[in-house]
Amino acid sequence: MCKMESFIYRPAKQKDLEFIRELSAQVFSRYGNYEEIVLAWLEQGAVITEIIMEQNYNLGFAMLVLDRQKVLGSRTAHLLAIGILPEHQRRGVGRALLEHMEEVARKYNAVEMNLWTAVDNEPALSFFQKAGFEIERFESYYYPKGQAALAMSKKLNCK
Ligand SMILES: CC(C)(COP(=O)(O)OP(=O)(O)OC[C@H]1O[C@@H](n2cnc3c(N)ncnc32)[C@H](O)[C@@H]1OP(=O)(O)O)[C@@H](O)C(=O)NCCC(=O)NCCS
Repeated sequence: MCKMESFIYRPAKQKDLEFIRELSAQVFSRYGNYEEIVLAWLEQGAVITEIIMEQNYNLGFAMLVLDRQKVLGSRTAHLLAIGILPEHQRRGVGRALLEHMEEVARKYNAVEMNLWTAVDNEPALSFFQKAGFEIERFESYYYPKGQAALAMSKKLNCK
C-alpha cells in the first residue's frame, strides 16, 4: 500500500531562524557563508520563506523572491534556496516543497521560475531537471568560494 504524504507548509517565523541557519550551514557552506547570506535574505521583506514540516517537525525550507509586478508582461519568481535535512533527503520532501513554492509563485502571477545551482551539485541538478527545469546558461566563479553555477528555469504553466 502507498504511504500518504502528510507534509505541512507554513511561512517561516522568527523562531525558525536557528533551524534555517543550521540547515544552511550544513548544506550550503561549501559554497560560501550561506548561513549568514540566507539570514540576510530572510530579513528582506520581499523574500518569501516557507518551512515544510511533518508531525510538528521541521524538514526543510525554501525561499523565493518575485520580480516587481510589471504593468505589461509576465512576472518571474527566483528560487533563492531550497534545503532539506540530510537525514530526510531522497524521500520526496524536496519535490513536495518545490511544488508548493511553484504554487506560491503562481498565486503571485509568476509564469516562470528561475534559479542558480552549482555545476558540481549533481543531486540538485538531477532534482531540478526531474522537476522540469532546463539549463539556460553557465557562469564561472558564481559562488563566494569560486564554484561555477548553472542558471535554470521552468515555465509555470497552469496546472
Ligand atoms: C536538492 C534537494 C533539495 C533535493 O531534495 P530531496 O528531498 O532529497 O529530493 P526528493 O526526494 O524530492 O527527490 C526528487 C527527485 O530528485 C532527484 N534527486 C534527488 N536527490 C538526488 C540525488 N542525490 N541523486 C540523484 N537524483 C536525485 C531524483 O530524480 C528524485 O526522484 P526519485 O527519488 O524518484 O528518483 C536536497 O538534496 C538538498 O537539500 N540538498 C542540499 C541543498 C541543495 O543543494 N539545494 C539546492 C540548491 S539551492
